[in-house]
Amino acid sequence: MLESSFLCLFFLFLITIPLGTSCSTLRTTTTTPHDIIDQTCEKCANQSTILSYTLCSTSLPAIPVSHSTNLQGLGLIAMELALENVTNTLATIEKLLLDTTSFDDNFALGCLTDCLELYSDAAWTIVESIEVFLSGKYEVSRTWMSEVMEAASTCQGGFVEKGEVSPLTEENYNLFQLCGIALCIIHLSNPEVPS
Ligand SMILES: *[C@@H]1O[C@H](CO)[C@@H](O)[C@H](O)[C@H]1NC(C)=O
Ligand SMILES: *[C@@H]1O[C@H](CO)[C@@H](O)[C@H](O)[C@H]1NC(C)=O
Repeated sequence: MLESSFLCLFFLFLITIPLGTSCSTLRTTTTTPHDIIDQTCEKCANQSTILSYTLCSTSLPAIPVSHSTNLQGLGLIAMELALENVTNTLATIEKLLLDTTSFDDNFALGCLTDCLELYSDAAWTIVESIEVFLSGKYEVSRTWMSEVMEAASTCQGGFVEKGEVSPLTEENYNLFQLCGIALCIIHLSNPEVPS
């Protein structure tokens, strides 16, 4: 199954990230981890009118490693959360597509099919974004996360254009937010770009 292979990838990242960030973790002893999450979320919400401080500060602690990490670690966590969201949403879309009684017309079906494709691509894009992030190519990583952010908007916009009620409004919103948070944190964690 498509989504189970993404889940495997996701858990693989969960396992490898603590190893990858353990060296830099040693350097972040001056602030308590809770402060890092709060401060980062506040900074990101301050810098942008669209990012939700609440979603950021309640989402990032969901992954335990974020309690002992630095900005790079938080960036990875935001991308992991986005990947988890995409994986879950793919399963939701597949379920909706199977239940044909949930459509009164073909427009919604067409929009959902588009979203399935957008979300499938998004999963791979996030995986690649994490890969380039780990090799220090922060700007490439940001480009790819912007693409995923756009995919969430495009999925939502498809329904709006056809005058349909989107069954994925919450999912698209969450993914949009998580990508925006990831973009902000990757930007903040890039030493070559003044924040
Ligand atoms: C965010 O903005 C508020 C209000 O302008 C300010 O008090 C706060 O210090 C800012 N936080 C950060 C982390 O920049
Ligand atoms: C997506 O992410 C948000 C924020 O972390 C979370 O509240 C929500 O439960 C996630 N949704 C899915 C379907 O995974």
